[in-house]
Amino acid sequence: MSFLHIDNVKKRFGDTTVLKGIDITIEKGDFLVLVGPSGCGKSTLLNMIAGLDSISEGELRLNGEVISHVHPSQRDIAMVFQSYALYPSMTVAGNIGFGLEMRKVPKPEREKAIKNVAQMLQIESLLDRKPAQLSGGQRQRVAMGRALVREPQLFLFDEPLSNLDAKLRVDMRTEIKQLHQRLKATIVYVTHDQIEAMTLATRIAVMRGGELQQLGTPHDVYDDPNNLFVAGFMGSPSMNLIEARIEKDGEELVAWVETADDRLKLPVVRDREALGAYAGRRVILGLRPEAITDSRSANHQDGIIYEAALNVEIIEPTGADLYVVTMLGGREVNARMRSGTAVEVGQSAPFAFDVARMVAFDPESEARIR
Ligand SMILES: Nc1ncnc2c1ncn2[C@@H]1O[C@H](COP(=O)(O)OP(=O)(O)OP(=O)(O)O)[C@@H](O)[C@H]1O
Ligand SMILES: [Mg+2]
Repeated sequence: MSFLHIDNVKKRFGDTTVLKGIDITIEKGDFLVLVGPSGCGKSTLLNMIAGLDSISEGELRLNGEVISHVHPSQRDIAMVFQSYALYPSMTVAGNIGFGLEMRKVPKPEREKAIKNVAQMLQIESLLDRKPAQLSGGQRQRVAMGRALVREPQLFLFDEPLSNLDAKLRVDMRTEIKQLHQRLKATIVYVTHDQIEAMTLATRIAVMRGGELQQLGTPHDVYDDPNNLFVAGFMGSPSMNLIEARIEKDGEELVAWVETADDRLKLPVVRDREALGAYAGRRVILGLRPEAITDSRSANHQDGIIYEAALNVEIIEPTGADLYVVTMLGGREVNARMRSGTAVEVGQSAPFAFDVARMVAFDPESEARIR
């Protein structure tokens, strides 16, 4: 039995269906991150789990109990919003303790719980201040404190860090990760931030237009995407999507790709059986930038490396790495090379392809071929 079961959940607002039957299960202690373009239904789904929005169809179960129609206050779920929604007239301590007070938790117990949480979030010195006297990051901590103090069965976070500046966001991300590990809490978390999703999640759900595109570990959605949408959405810079033609080459299966002035033959080693059926047909290959690199950085140990000399179109140093662009299948393709690799714009350079990481998609259905 899974801990949280979102079972064929649908949501209609009038005539428009914004969630078209979502099926997700997670276990106790999981950190589920919902990602997807604006308007795809992430907040709606979170609000339905919290009980702030009704369910049009389907069922929600938490720890074996059907909660679809249970009042929000009875669900044992705490939610942290993007806008912190603190009570302006109450102190930090009052804000954190408010939920406990409503539940008639005795004062000494309440104070102990507030102190505990304040210690955990390093806001002990702020307990007597009002929200207006706090920075954005401090307010976010108080909002988290208010959720944590209740020790609910499930935490819901809707883009909790999106109002913070970049540096603070990274710090808070680390803290949330540590909190999750320490408390062994079960969390459903919405974000727009790719890195937040990859670093925090034990499971990622990629949504689009009210439909679930893929549910899996960060590794699954990153290296084993279900379709072109997931491949293009996860990761930054995104996966290279390259037009190619599958051919039989004796006993081997290969993908032919047009380069700037010639063509390149890449051996097909992954999903060979399924791709065999595509012999003579066009496909879209997917290769992460780090799966196209310089010979020295290539993963010769676990990968299957295939080297080819290609023309260098653009070089973009990022400090840690060098993004080197070449043309494949008529499109710019990003290779991630070691900083300091000797490459020059307009010159030919050796590129090392890890074909063990190469995936392929059907250009019509956009589904993964496997
Ligand atoms: N009360 C409502 N009445 C009608 N339509 C609504 C209502 N609430 C949300 N929607 C619509 O439902 C869809 C999903 O909205 P939702 O807020 O869940 O998206 P989201 O994935 O959280 O987007 P964002 O990333 O921008 O926060 C949108 O098209 C939105 O316009
Ligand atoms: Mg939203």
